Amino acid sequence: PLVTTKQLLLDAQAGQYAVGAFNVENMEMVQAVVTAAEELHSPVIIQTTPSTVQYADLAYFYANAKVAAERATVPVAMHLDHGSSFELAMKALRTGYTSIMIDGSHVSFEENIAVTKAVVDACHPSDVPVEAELGKVGGKEDDLDGGEGGGYTIPSEAVEFVERTGIDSLAVAIGTAHGVYKGTPKLDVERLSEIREVVSIPLVLHGTSGVPDEAVKECVKRGICKVNYATDLRIAFSKGVNEILAENPDTIDPKKYNACGRKRVKEYVMSKMQVVGSVGKA
Ligand code: 13P
Ligand code: ZN
Ligand code: NA
Repeated sequence: PLVTTKQLLLDAQAGQYAVGAFNVENMEMVQAVVTAAEELHSPVIIQTTPSTVQYADLAYFYANAKVAAERATVPVAMHLDHGSSFELAMKALRTGYTSIMIDGSHVSFEENIAVTKAVVDACHPSDVPVEAELGKVGGKEDDLDGGEGGGYTIPSEAVEFVERTGIDSLAVAIGTAHGVYKGTPKLDVERLSEIREVVSIPLVLHGTSGVPDEAVKECVKRGICKVNYATDLRIAFSKGVNEILAENPDTIDPKKYNACGRKRVKEYVMSKMQVVGSVGKA
């Protein structure tokens, strides 16, 4: 069924595992993610970024997710990833998204608190949970441009931020970056533990494509409850499509090549569900 991320993440926190949050770009990726969850009896979060919902309306992605979620026996949440404005967050809320991120990490601490609190106040009456970000995850969302981690989350600021906004989960900056890494990322896991000690709500890891599985497991041990993967799903889908078109350049049926992309994404998602520890939790 379609659920919010509220109980999903609290259960993960209590059970010391994390739920994978996978960015989708089309119907086939929605099917791949939910089929993977179903086969592994895992809870799962589907998410879309602003550039994705600009390509096709929020309603298209919500409709796909809703169909998949309602047929699934496992819990599936539909999340707005990196919500870039109060307006987009409200649009997602009205569309039926069951979880919303407002990303004020690019504005000042006070402005981040103001926009985040406004979204929380608008979403909570409908029981829709809100994720926000403090510090800067490196790289650029929606882009393959990896890079250095941005400003790390400061534990004392995280406490104040959570108290003043009333958010349900917090995305932390501990050295990960969106996109493909140039080398191996160096994560400040000590900082993660320090944040965990003073902040009680579920913590979220962004930029996880390219982070070694062992490092992800260490982060889950230290309190991460939601793990975001986007870039590697795009790569998996595109590789699948490219391969069949390279073998059979005359393929003209989109079903044929999209099915190859879908298969690759499903395999990738299944492998990451093992890493985050959500297998068998639904
Ligand atoms: P990647 O680009 O590393 O997959 O990051 C995913 C993410 O954080 C989505 O919000
Ligand atoms: Zn992210
Ligand atoms: Na990454």
